[in-house]
Amino acid sequence: MSKVIGTAVNRKDGYAKVTGTATYSAEHDVPGLVHGVVVTSTIAKGRIKAIDTREAEKAPGVTAVFTHKNAPKVFKPSNNFMTSKIYEARLPLSDDQIHYAGQIIGLVVADTFERARYAAHLVKVEYDAQKPTIEAKNAVFKEAPPQMGEEFKFVKGDVAAGMAGAATKLEATYTTSTELHAPMEPHAIIAQWQGTDALTVYEPSQFVALSQRTYAELFGLPSEKVRIIIPYLGGAFGSKAFPWPHGILAAAAARQIKRPLKVVLSRRQVTANAGHRSETEQTVRLAAAADGMLSAIAHEVKSSTSPVETFTEPCTSVTPAMYTAPNLLLNQELAVMNIGTPTFMRAPGEAPGMWALESAMDELAWALKLDPIALRLKNEAKEHQRKGLPFSAKHFADCLRVGAERFGWKDRPEPRSLTRDGKLIGWGMAAATFPGFRGKTSAKVRLLPDGSVHVLTSGNDMGTGSYTVVAITAAETLGVPVEKVRVEMGDSQLPDGGLAGGSQMTASLVPTVMKACQDILKTANCTTGTEACAALQKSGRAAIEASASSAPGDETKKWAFQSWGAHFCEVTVDEEIGRLRVTRWVSVMDVGRIINTKAAASQVRGGVIMGIGQALMEECHFDPNTGYPVVYDLATYHFPAHADTPRIDVAFVGEPDLNFNPAGVRGVGEIGITGVSAAIANAVHHATGKRLRSLPLTPDKLI
Ligand code: MOS
Repeated sequence: MSKVIGTAVNRKDGYAKVTGTATYSAEHDVPGLVHGVVVTSTIAKGRIKAIDTREAEKAPGVTAVFTHKNAPKVFKPSNNFMTSKIYEARLPLSDDQIHYAGQIIGLVVADTFERARYAAHLVKVEYDAQKPTIEAKNAVFKEAPPQMGEEFKFVKGDVAAGMAGAATKLEATYTTSTELHAPMEPHAIIAQWQGTDALTVYEPSQFVALSQRTYAELFGLPSEKVRIIIPYLGGAFGSKAFPWPHGILAAAAARQIKRPLKVVLSRRQVTANAGHRSETEQTVRLAAAADGMLSAIAHEVKSSTSPVETFTEPCTSVTPAMYTAPNLLLNQELAVMNIGTPTFMRAPGEAPGMWALESAMDELAWALKLDPIALRLKNEAKEHQRKGLPFSAKHFADCLRVGAERFGWKDRPEPRSLTRDGKLIGWGMAAATFPGFRGKTSAKVRLLPDGSVHVLTSGNDMGTGSYTVVAITAAETLGVPVEKVRVEMGDSQLPDGGLAGGSQMTASLVPTVMKACQDILKTANCTTGTEACAALQKSGRAAIEASASSAPGDETKKWAFQSWGAHFCEVTVDEEIGRLRVTRWVSVMDVGRIINTKAAASQVRGGVIMGIGQALMEECHFDPNTGYPVVYDLATYHFPAHADTPRIDVAFVGEPDLNFNPAGVRGVGEIGITGVSAAIANAVHHATGKRLRSLPLTPDKLI
């Protein structure tokens, strides 16, 4: 047996990415291409009274202008996550109504991008404007409707009774800002029709097979007539799972003009039209006995959605998995505001949810004069309180113990007692968690006589390392060097490789690839790939091939699958100028078996860096007058650079979670960000004595 699984393997796609030969959506060389630029609304609410496209149509190079008056035909998809899914339920240009600033109200097509962009400015629009709802303080919050089949409200016992007799009580409200996905690659599409009944789409997708079915439904075609090609994505974080309005409009317009059409959103358009994480306001109530045993937990959340789609940032999902109390109350409220549609963003719910919960646990620990690690261990959940199921594998205590050792946590002195170079020093910690998800996937594996292996699946690599994970799995199972494995992904003509989201690609795809490789050995009646190759050479055949699928089974009725972690950090605070630096970081994770130690640690580091962004910098307000986001590019939306990021020490504990899948992997994409902002705010409290409850922790809050 070669031992590739669990070693550090360089990215299969690394060379192509650093040399610029990796082809992203907007870069495919499609002959005869024309360019589209979207026209967007300058008001946030109302209707289009008149739209004049005459001047734009006469501009040089312009071949078509689309508005709601001549909107190209699309059908309503079923939009249910199974057969199809679009981000915004309202189809583009479907009427004259305006729901948010930046909403797409037209598309100008020309022979060059510059000419299309120029002509887009010539479209004249008159509006009947109404007063939009832009700020949460003016919004009407109502009970959030069920999401993906689950109610938000959950009541166990009686929180009021659990609070009443408690020795120590805490009630605190924590807020987070609107956050942007800000992927390095902006949203883009090239839509190319073959006649009017076959479509090729080059567009980022985290779920290639679903994107194929969705475009098929949008145009009334069988899925086989739609091909999605997306070998590389430049970051997604949840914002590139399904088609947005610009993609739908581009594909529809391309059919009508009978030319391949490219639409690339500007950074400003990406900000307004392609998702964000809603701001949240979370109130946590905790009650505990003097020994730290919790008697009540309440977690109540407000977030917002757009008028054209319902999405609730599911912050309370973490609470019933983390800590047990006999009395537990969860509830979420949602307001409709005139801003673009919010959606899934790395650890949707878990990232802001853990900010509130893990800040509150720290506050409670200080109030009880207990070590925050001891408080967490005392109350850790043995079962998932909503699912009523035990955790399949849980090594949370090991995360805390190993993390504390690596960091040197013991003997933490009183707040405001550590200084260095005239700055205050603080230590903080917080837990991390993310559910284990797994989906159905299929793949095909071919063993060739020269000993090389070819793996084919539509599942794709959004930058997380899926190419490499698949190659490692095939190399390990067939006993061939990883360099001999070629992986093809991100094409809907390949077997359905499932969703790159919910941190599930590895848990979904690795068991499938293992199975296909084992089938090859069975077919060849050999125990290794080398033997199988020799047999293949003798037989004179071109290849041995196997297709396999795998899917979750009954285990989800027996177990709750959840990953665990702990973050420890040091910050320095210069109170004179409000400067906060993160100077030391340790993360310890229990995510089941690790396939690629290098990529897995990188995923955790990426999550921590994104969490540092959430904690310190990422902030997006909407102008109450125009409704437009006041930040709109990678210069105005701040996130951490290398200089803002310390060395991040990552360690893994835990064991293969074989109840979950035969590979024992749970996935590692999202857990890294959870708990990070709380660990930082907890460290700031230790440094300064100040409890900050509103993210981001900008200098003005630290002076
Ligand atoms: Mo992720 S937010 O599941 O892409």
